[in-house]
Amino acid sequence: MLPDIQFVQRPGVIEFGWGHLAAELLPHTELLRAATWTLTNDAPAALTYGYAQGPGRLIALLAERIAIAEHELMITGGTSQALDMLCKHLSQPGDVVLVEAPTYHLALRIFRDYKLRPVMLPGDQQGVHVTAVATLVRLLRQRGERIAFLYLVPSFRNPSGVTLSAERRAELARLATALELTVIEDEAYAELWYDLPPPPPIASFAPGSMLIRLGSFAKVLAPGLRLGWMQAPSSLIQRCVSSGMLDSGGGVNHFTAHVVLALLRAGDFEPHLLRLRNGLRARRDTLLAALARTMPRGVTWRPPLGGFFVWLRTPPTIDTTALLPIAEAAGVSYIPGERFYAGSGGRHELRLAFSLLSEADLIEGARRLGKVLREAG
Ligand SMILES: Cc1ncc(COP(=O)(O)O)c(C=O)c1O
Repeated sequence: MLPDIQFVQRPGVIEFGWGHLAAELLPHTELLRAATWTLTNDAPAALTYGYAQGPGRLIALLAERIAIAEHELMITGGTSQALDMLCKHLSQPGDVVLVEAPTYHLALRIFRDYKLRPVMLPGDQQGVHVTAVATLVRLLRQRGERIAFLYLVPSFRNPSGVTLSAERRAELARLATALELTVIEDEAYAELWYDLPPPPPIASFAPGSMLIRLGSFAKVLAPGLRLGWMQAPSSLIQRCVSSGMLDSGGGVNHFTAHVVLALLRAGDFEPHLLRLRNGLRARRDTLLAALARTMPRGVTWRPPLGGFFVWLRTPPTIDTTALLPIAEAAGVSYIPGERFYAGSGGRHELRLAFSLLSEADLIEGARRLGKVLREAG
């Protein structure tokens, strides 16, 4: 039989590779209540075709929550669907897309579907270097290249955990306006902070420019909902909303959107988010303490202040791609750094997700990985 779900749990392997939430972090009770309320009280609206932009009541609530106008917001089938839709509307095959190094590997997959050419931008612990963006944009345009957009994960980036500083967000917004560069900021992890909230979104620094912000309920509620939102200039929202697909099928994931609306209206979101942050913070702290005990000399990492991931750097003698089968044979898995780069790079880096595993598995997984890295180094 075909599988029902994406995640595969291999017996005997501690899977650090999957950036998914542990079952006990998912809001079962809240969603049961919201779905029951919706089917009891809101069924005619929830079960018919939806308004193309998304249910008006959900848009009104989200627009108020993030303090923007309703015509600048639409409901999406999650960030992946939004990225796919944006590629369709904003790019042509062969266009360049600027991305951070390293970047979210599955965004690269979507860009490849549209035959875009990712060009990676250097950065540091404050995020991407804005001067490098300016130089590259000018250089590429002088060479006659078309740049579809710049794609960033500004808060607790997948995979490196880096957060773009407030100064650079403001600088980037100014630069994007001056150069007429479209920027897509993917805020998948922005609400999952464990110490301090991230700076305001890039879009808040230059309203009216082509600054697009993507939000998702995948990480703060559940990925199976397939629900998110997009903030963009209303001209772009109108272009997206007037597609034949939405005209024929109505707004995406309309029933789910009603269930999330009911959950938000019941006041169940904020308490859930607090519980989720506490559960993830505890996992992060457990993993960091275990890494400090078990990693050999020369392996380094920075404590992430939010999100799902710890990004490890190994000595140059270790190739994390070549090491993966050996690690899996020893009962521990991860994603090699190479997957998060468009060209070369990442051979001495790897990503660990702490969102899925129990505290006992995080400790045992770190022990196994430490042993594998020590033997390889
Ligand atoms: C940075 C980033 N963006 C988007 C996604 C996927 O979002 P969605 O489930 O809303 O399509 C992920 C999931 O891992 C992610 O890490």
